[in-house]
Amino acid sequence: MEYKNLLLSEMEGVATVTVNRPDKLNALNAATIAELGAAFDDLAVRASAKAVIVTGAGEKAFVAGADIAELAQQSPLAGKATAQKGQALFRRIETLGKPVIAAINGYALGGGLELALACAVRIASDNAKLGLPEVTLGLIPGYGGTQRLARIVGRGRALELILTGDRIDAVEAHRIGLVNKVVAAGELAATAEALARRMLANGPVALRLALEAVDRGLELPLEDGLNLEANLFGLCATTDDMVEGTNAFLEKRKAKFLGA
Ligand code: COA
Repeated sequence: MEYKNLLLSEMEGVATVTVNRPDKLNALNAATIAELGAAFDDLAVRASAKAVIVTGAGEKAFVAGADIAELAQQSPLAGKATAQKGQALFRRIETLGKPVIAAINGYALGGGLELALACAVRIASDNAKLGLPEVTLGLIPGYGGTQRLARIVGRGRALELILTGDRIDAVEAHRIGLVNKVVAAGELAATAEALARRMLANGPVALRLALEAVDRGLELPLEDGLNLEANLFGLCATTDDMVEGTNAFLEKRKAKFLGA
């Protein structure tokens, strides 16, 4: 598929999706949401892509939010449908079955922060600014922000950010656990790629099952989450990767995982 608002590349197992509307600070209009949906559907089944990095084009913004020009026109029902489309896309990203890393290279506001929240790990450049400013527009976050932010940084910090609409810098985002790491802007792409490659040195099936255990387990009572974990742990024993990984350790050699 030809993309108008995205750049897609892949190098030795690591795919990069770049939202590419730099003149609008990579704001997510409906066309871009649709293209992201197609791109992640493709990445979900593309065997060669084992991890994904999401970032924004240009030096200023990761994604500065949903497209406010479109939001300004919405009716209540259209607004609900817009939120549901964005939510479905971000859930698709969250449950891709492969590690997705947000490389936050500038403004991550509104839908941009919500996109980053759906990723497994967030790395920010030192010039990044993050926030959920929807209330300043008479809106609330609609692409999962009210749900995921509280799960990641806790209710009090999430509500402070959501109710003030304040933007915070990368250091503060790191302090509250919103981003995993802060690096100099020039090192962001290399850091994200190195992290993806560290993950890919491990068994791909194990990565998939670990992602599922955490994603589903967080929504369950502890007993049910532990049961899910035990079932997925047992499932690992059906894989060639577990045989390879454990034998490689015992034979004092590096494992060669095939993802089966
Ligand atoms: N939707 C649509 N267009 C947006 C946008 C968004 N979320 N964010 C930025 N843009 C556009 C601007 O309208 C401007 O377009 P123009 O050149 O055609 O006028 C262009 O991107 C550059 O933005 P500008 O505001 O001039 O840059 P800035 O450096 O002065 O300010 C921000 C940067 C991020 C502080 C500012 O753009 C902003 O507050 N954006 C909206 C953030 C937001 O509320 N997001 C949540 C939406 S739910």
